[in-house]
Amino acid sequence: MRWACLVGGTGSNLRALIDDGAPIRLVISHKAGVGALEIARAAGIPQVVLPARQYPVREEYDAALLRILGEAGIEALVLAGFLRLLSDRVVDTYAGRAVNVHPSLLPAFPGLHAVRQALEYGVRVTGVSVHLVDRGLDSGPIIFQEAVSVRPDDTDETLSSRIHAVEHRLLPRAVRLLDAHRLEVQGRQVVIREE
Ligand code: GRF
Repeated sequence: MRWACLVGGTGSNLRALIDDGAPIRLVISHKAGVGALEIARAAGIPQVVLPARQYPVREEYDAALLRILGEAGIEALVLAGFLRLLSDRVVDTYAGRAVNVHPSLLPAFPGLHAVRQALEYGVRVTGVSVHLVDRGLDSGPIIFQEAVSVRPDDTDETLSSRIHAVEHRLLPRAVRLLDAHRLEVQGRQVVIREE
């Protein structure tokens, strides 16, 4: 399938996807000047910056997003650091073909600053969730989860870096499986079909 990666940060997950050979044909960032765009440029992947302030109304933002995705013939989405909630129209267009990575063991700590939320809560274990995107906030059926222990002296940076290492392993695996049509959704469960 032709994939677009939606970004907005350093792009370390985009890097991991590219290194894994994921068929990323377009990178869209909600923010200019971020590392992810530099990574896309270096890899020769076309990129578009779609800043929120250009389209203050979400429906208009997502109409522009859908137009760009459609023109590029994009069939599947991988969200990695894209900090905008997608409207129902986008979610429905890519239902079952959109993956997100989130730095916590969902349903704990959805939304922004999940690592900070976990530290502030004082949990002993947090982790990574890779899930399909549905209409809610970080609420879609889960493809992979892996725990990461919290150390007493952890900071946002130290814990984030161990979480990132897990993300870089799980997200490309999920994209590969979805790309190979090996993920089947049965209610809340994602079943991985044998090859
Ligand atoms: C990751 O931690 C991901 O879980 C969250 O945003 C971060 C993106 O990091 N959704 P990067 O830009 O891929 O380095």
